[in-house]
Amino acid sequence: MKDQWLNMWNERYSKKEFAYGTEPNVYFKNQLARLEPGKILLGAEGEGRNAIYAARLGWEVSAFDISEEGKNKALMLAKEHQVKIDYRVGSFPELGFEPDHFDAIGLIYAHFPPDLRQQYFELLNKYLKEKGQVIFEAFGKNHLAYREKDSMVGGPPDFDSLYSTKDLEGYFPGFQISELTESEVELSEGLYHNGFGSVTRFCGLKQT
Ligand SMILES: C[S@@+](CC[C@H](N)C(=O)[O-])C[C@H]1O[C@@H](n2cnc3c(N)ncnc32)[C@H](O)[C@@H]1O
Repeated sequence: MKDQWLNMWNERYSKKEFAYGTEPNVYFKNQLARLEPGKILLGAEGEGRNAIYAARLGWEVSAFDISEEGKNKALMLAKEHQVKIDYRVGSFPELGFEPDHFDAIGLIYAHFPPDLRQQYFELLNKYLKEKGQVIFEAFGKNHLAYREKDSMVGGPPDFDSLYSTKDLEGYFPGFQISELTESEVELSEGLYHNGFGSVTRFCGLKQT
């Protein structure tokens, strides 16, 4: 893990305010509403807004991120809402999650470094049970033009860190896909995601 990358996230999360707010991502919230609570894993979960929301609905929540400061904020939010989550800090594959364990995986703006992505998604697939659900939202390949027009919308500055719909098909092979789109979305999430962006969404069920 590059120090500069880790320091950037720790610094962002060491502030008092929540970088992406304390409310869950809207797409995550809407997709989760269709599911019965079970075990869910939230990847690259930062300050825990989605994890805590799921826990409040009765999900058994695990989460991971590289940022210790993100974990601190997430546990603070968990305490405020009187819920418990299992939040692990570190990198794959050392995090120790079990195969075929989760009923759902949520990946919300999980812009993993491009060189790690293939390995990370293979592992995430492994941790998901058969008929388990993936809920994914992140910036898409058309996003750089939006970011140039209005930097308040945030997102990675490099093309390789963005996700195409084709990337998602590759990362979740054989899934029964209920949604796979890249489209313009207006975001209003804390300090760092505000305005119009190009957003890729994937929702699918693992088949085998
Ligand atoms: C845009 S934030 C999204 C946070 C959270 N999912 C949310 O929606 O509020 C991206 C997150 O990816 C995390 N991240 C970056 N590289 C990672 C890696 N290699 N493994 C795990 N998390 C990583 C960062 O620490 C950061 O919390």
